[in-house]
Amino acid sequence: MAAPGPSAPVGPFPPGVETEEQRSDYDKRRRRVLWTLPYGLYLVGSTDHGVKRNLMTLNWATQVSFEPKLLGIGVQKDALTHELITEGRVFSLCTVDREDRAIVRKFTKPVDVDLEARTLNGFAFTDGPSGAPVLDASPAWVDCEVREAVDCGGHTFFIGEVVDAGFRPGTAEDTPVLRMEDTRMSYGG
Ligand SMILES: Cc1cc2nc3c(=O)[nH]c(=O)nc-3n(C[C@H](O)[C@H](O)[C@H](O)COP(=O)(O)O)c2cc1C
Repeated sequence: MAAPGPSAPVGPFPPGVETEEQRSDYDKRRRRVLWTLPYGLYLVGSTDHGVKRNLMTLNWATQVSFEPKLLGIGVQKDALTHELITEGRVFSLCTVDREDRAIVRKFTKPVDVDLEARTLNGFAFTDGPSGAPVLDASPAWVDCEVREAVDCGGHTFFIGEVVDAGFRPGTAEDTPVLRMEDTRMSYGG
């Protein structure tokens, strides 16, 4: 399972890559190289601070500073999550238990929210301190307030300051968490 990328080869192209065929070959090679970069796999929680909530599968996440504690995520501009983070200025980043790998397939389009049952697509959630939802089944989570939104073309890199973080009660802190390589999925490239 791979999320769709651009349909035509994207420049710039190195010297000597000139014909349509060379550009297409280069485009494919570059994608295969980029796919070898190791990633984690997460669920990002977002909210408008009203009735809207969402959880989205995401692998483009990294800590970007010690002091202050900043974390960045790359979010597609056409995703509901993008709209909610832009509006709500908060997000959560939830890890996924390696035993629960099927969960990430359930969060690749906007979720069904049941505020009474407190579920998203049938999975129990809790609002984190910022208001962004956190999946109850996640071994660990961080809660962030957006400090910067960097325009990166098709995506926005949201940089958030970690305002709270925790482990699921009763969960071993060294519970193995899901990484891209544990799945047959890819994104980006
Ligand atoms: C394995 C995998 C990794 C993904 N990583 C990202 C990512 O890093 N950033 C992103 O914007 N979308 C990513 N997606 C795509 C979103 O999960 C997907 O586009 C989703 O439809 C957008 O969610 P939303 O509209 O519910 O907010 C990934 C999808 C998969 C299957």
